[in-house]
Amino acid sequence: MGLFRQRSAVGLDLGSHTLKAVEVVGHNGDVRVSKIAAAPTPAGAVVEGVATDAALLAPAIRELLGGAGIRAKRVVTAVGGEAVIIRELKLPEMPEAELARAVAFEAERYLPAGVQEVARDFQVLGTTAEEKQLDILLVAARKELVDRQLAPLRATGLSSSIMEVTSFSMVRAYESPAAGNGDGGDNDHGDAIVYVDLGAQSSDIIVMEHDRLRLARNISTGGNALTQAVAAAMDVEFGAAETLKEREAQLYLHGEQPSDVMLGRVHEAMLPVLTSIFTEVRRSMDFYTARSRGQAIAKVVLSGGTAKLRNLAPYLSDELGVPVEVGNPFGPRQVDPGIPPDRLSDLAPTMAVAVGLALRGARE
Ligand SMILES: Nc1ncnc2c1ncn2[C@@H]1O[C@H](COP(=O)(O)OP(=O)(O)OP(=O)(O)O)[C@@H](O)[C@H]1O
Ligand SMILES: [Mg+2]
Repeated sequence: MGLFRQRSAVGLDLGSHTLKAVEVVGHNGDVRVSKIAAAPTPAGAVVEGVATDAALLAPAIRELLGGAGIRAKRVVTAVGGEAVIIRELKLPEMPEAELARAVAFEAERYLPAGVQEVARDFQVLGTTAEEKQLDILLVAARKELVDRQLAPLRATGLSSSIMEVTSFSMVRAYESPAAGNGDGGDNDHGDAIVYVDLGAQSSDIIVMEHDRLRLARNISTGGNALTQAVAAAMDVEFGAAETLKEREAQLYLHGEQPSDVMLGRVHEAMLPVLTSIFTEVRRSMDFYTARSRGQAIAKVVLSGGTAKLRNLAPYLSDELGVPVEVGNPFGPRQVDPGIPPDRLSDLAPTMAVAVGLALRGARE
């Protein structure tokens, strides 16, 4: 980073429920969060992690950025959900120069039939010492979906030269500033951290061991399923159920008596959906520990709008038997004092992906 160059970048997270943007500017050799913005996604304009309606999204994005005074230059966005194919594969140890070709060759076998035009990337997860094998994480998305995701940006007059994966961005947001390019993070006390982003349509589970990604899963359930469950149980419309869930709902911890009969019913209604999400988190944890040669899970960090559900973290902690916290991607960073603290803390859990994307942009 040049001494006189003020790198600025914008992370743009096109969620199915909420559009989020974070601007960072270079500051004393580090970056500082200068602007944040969030606005409802036009109905149906983002489906399963991919923009489907550029004409609806373009004005919404323009308003989102303009309203917050973000003068975007370098914009980074991501695809997520089911649009992204993540597979682990093993290859014999080989020089790095040969790896790309070997992965490309292997990729054909690991991608679903009919997926030809793909954007691909890969990462070496580690080496299996005994067998002299490399564990490779292959990430792919159909080119057509990547293009669809970029269409609303183009229509806004923005360009994004970088296409990321939402779940990887989410994890980057929690790296400590000193860690630099994916090195260390706040996880310097050994053991693994599980990051869970609970969105509206889908959720991501990532296991990180120090700076190493060890497992990545996407599950196609999230806050919308909770809202539907509340709507059915209380016999109200989706919108009313969502308001009830966001403003009043809470989980009652074991042994705790609901203070209110109605809220007790809401808790009961949400439980089956939450249990299915928790089961996937536990499965991922078990899968990781079985392969990790004794590494334990230190904690679970939640993000996404659904992480704001009252008492979710302590409830999940009781269920999983590990500490669970709601993440704050602004915590380890310098933030412009002009951003009201209430707004910052209210938006924090939902901003992890956008923060990670902006950080990526600032580093390019
Ligand atoms: N206080 C709250 N309690 C419970 N749920 C909440 C609360 N605030 C927001 N949510 C839920 O969070 C979800 C939106 O979160 P988020 O912005 O992370 O989703 P998204 O990124 O737009 O969706 P996706 O990633 O699935 O496309 C919605 O289901 C919303 O109802
Ligand atoms: Mg999301």
